Amino acid sequence: MHISLFHLVAALGLSAVGEAKKKSCACNNAALEHCLKAHGVAFKVSCDADWETYSTPLNLRVPVKQAVIALPNDSKQVSAAVVCARKNGLKVQAKSGGHSYGGYSNVGIDGQVEVDLRNLNKTVLSSDGSVAVVGGGVKLGPMATAIYAQGKRAIPHGICGGVGIGGHSTHGGWGFTSRAWGLTLDHIVEMQVVLANGTEARASPNVNADLYWALRGAADSLAIVTSFSLSTQPAPEEVVNFNYEIRDILKSVDQAVSAFTHLQSFISNATTVDRRTSFSLQTHYGPDRATGEIVKTFLIQGTFLGSLAKYKASIEPEMLRGLPAPTASDVQAKDWIASLTALSPDGRLTGEALYLAFFANSVTVDDPGMNEAALRRYFTYMLEGPPSPGVAYQSNMELWGGADTQINLPAKDAKFAAFPHRNIFWTAHNLAQAAPNATFPPEGITWLNGLRQAILQDLDVGSAAYQNLLDTSLTRDEAHALYYGDEVLGRLRGIKKMHDPKDVFWNPQSV
Ligand SMILES: Cc1cc2nc3c(=O)[nH]c(=O)nc-3n(C[C@H](O)[C@H](O)[C@H](O)COP(=O)(O)OP(=O)(O)OC[C@H]3O[C@@H](n4cnc5c(N)ncnc54)[C@H](O)[C@@H]3O)c2cc1C
Ligand SMILES: *[C@@H]1O[C@H](CO)[C@@H](O)[C@H](O)[C@H]1NC(C)=O
Ligand SMILES: *[C@@H]1O[C@H](CO)[C@@H](O)[C@H](O)[C@H]1NC(C)=O
Ligand SMILES: *[C@@H]1O[C@H](CO)[C@@H](O)[C@H](O)[C@H]1NC(C)=O
Ligand SMILES: *[C@@H]1O[C@H](CO)[C@@H](O)[C@H](O)[C@H]1NC(C)=O
Ligand SMILES: *[C@@H]1O[C@H](CO)[C@@H](O)[C@H](O)[C@H]1NC(C)=O
Repeated sequence: MHISLFHLVAALGLSAVGEAKKKSCACNNAALEHCLKAHGVAFKVSCDADWETYSTPLNLRVPVKQAVIALPNDSKQVSAAVVCARKNGLKVQAKSGGHSYGGYSNVGIDGQVEVDLRNLNKTVLSSDGSVAVVGGGVKLGPMATAIYAQGKRAIPHGICGGVGIGGHSTHGGWGFTSRAWGLTLDHIVEMQVVLANGTEARASPNVNADLYWALRGAADSLAIVTSFSLSTQPAPEEVVNFNYEIRDILKSVDQAVSAFTHLQSFISNATTVDRRTSFSLQTHYGPDRATGEIVKTFLIQGTFLGSLAKYKASIEPEMLRGLPAPTASDVQAKDWIASLTALSPDGRLTGEALYLAFFANSVTVDDPGMNEAALRRYFTYMLEGPPSPGVAYQSNMELWGGADTQINLPAKDAKFAAFPHRNIFWTAHNLAQAAPNATFPPEGITWLNGLRQAILQDLDVGSAAYQNLLDTSLTRDEAHALYYGDEVLGRLRGIKKMHDPKDVFWNPQSV
């Protein structure tokens, strides 16, 4: 019964990356390729037989043709790739998991240099288990598996096993455990980086402190992180994964507003819940995988970091009190890895990508959350549905706030990191997707941006947008205002000038 947008249609399933079948093949930029060869850096160009397995972005709506995709094996080769690109006047972006919603790890415009970090793939837990050293190209699923296998430890992060640590941790990193443990970004204690002039450096609270601050929020604009040191938590012994599908919540706008209002006050009530309970409240619209029939449905999906007995006795009854009966539900106690595996959209932690044509945007809704008028406008808009049957959508209200949250601590202000979103109750994570094999229709973008406006229009608390849910329809200035705000942006610009005056690390929304 569990529907997720990334599940509504079959993914294209590009074949796994094969061995390079390199002909003598210099087809894009001879000087650049010569420079990479001279430094012993492996790379792909568009006449390689397996080019598409390297170059295709996760989001098929935004294809780009890179000049080369460099495949460094270590930090020295990353440095050489950056120097070669800069000498040739080209822009550079690192690719970690390649899950940018705008495909920005390919730089976002044709003819530039992608530095694919897939070979920087080691995860090593310290002997006392407190810190994991994670290569810049490691994906969340393999990272979680390795950290658990090496010492039963864990880090908070998003649910999709194919997302990379590089983009995710340096632009936030929210998952169900974030209410208990904070964002992925909060766990970065040190980074090894390559700067725009090719220098290898360290960034920590004591060494290059400005860079340490700036990379945690805006790494795409400043450097390539080749290795992260991340603080860890003991993995919970028992996690309750819960999913309730309640279609009757969407029977009317009144019913939806009242259910949402109840769930928002439930999770705000410190008598009932603490940091161990987290969820997202999801409205889905699209073809059912089994029947093809268009369905509208409401889901409560989340986790409780505790026992099934405790969950059943004191959390579930309060959460579901007064709501229409679930259409279907699935509540199971699992160990840590089984919990993560069940949450990942493809049901695996191996880190494969699911290629789709989609558009996304977000609204961060400040504490204490949605008011009645904003909810009414939000559900009215969604229940009227998208303009064409070729568009499926999903809006997830992801919980950052609520009683006892560890995301919004006073110490994690704009001085802590270049990530100012610390008074958030919900992040509305909106996605629209084309029908299988169809190109994404332009009205899908207009419609989803209308949904964003519907949330904002009657909001009486502050709002912004979350940079990991990259919105390609924003201009650079709009993106900066929504992702960073003036205070953080001003400081970032100063640091950019010092470390990357020639603007080597660039994408359509970079600082
Ligand atoms: C299926 C799916 C599920 C998701 N679920 C969640 C979720 O639950 N919670 C959440 O918070 N977010 C979620 N996201 C959003 C995700 O966090 C972002 O897309 C993230 O930025 C992807 O990181 P990446 O390394 O895979 O992407 P990439 O495309 O490789 O990189 C994204 C950006 O970061 C830069 N970058 C990457 N690595 C480095 C590096 N080592 N050094 C410097 N810059 C780097 C790239 O150049 C690019 O600009 C999800 C995305 C997808 C596609
Ligand atoms: C990179 O590492 C791989 C795997 O260890 C090895 O096969 C390859 O030769 C290395 N390439 C370079 C350019 O060092
Ligand atoms: C890391 O990459 C190398 C070379 O690409 C590969 O042989 C190895 O299996 C990978 N290791 C992990 C942990 O993924
Ligand atoms: C909080 O929960 C307690 C226990 O379930 C309940 O008695 C109380 O009325 C709730 N408070 C609010 C403000 O809803
Ligand atoms: C999409 O296209 C592929 C390749 O052309 C085809 O195999 C597949 O059946 C198509 N899927 C749908 C749902 O039309
Ligand atoms: C490279 O740039 C850094 C600043 O990012 C600077 O400190 C360093 O001196 C530069 N190195 C060289 C060799 O120019």
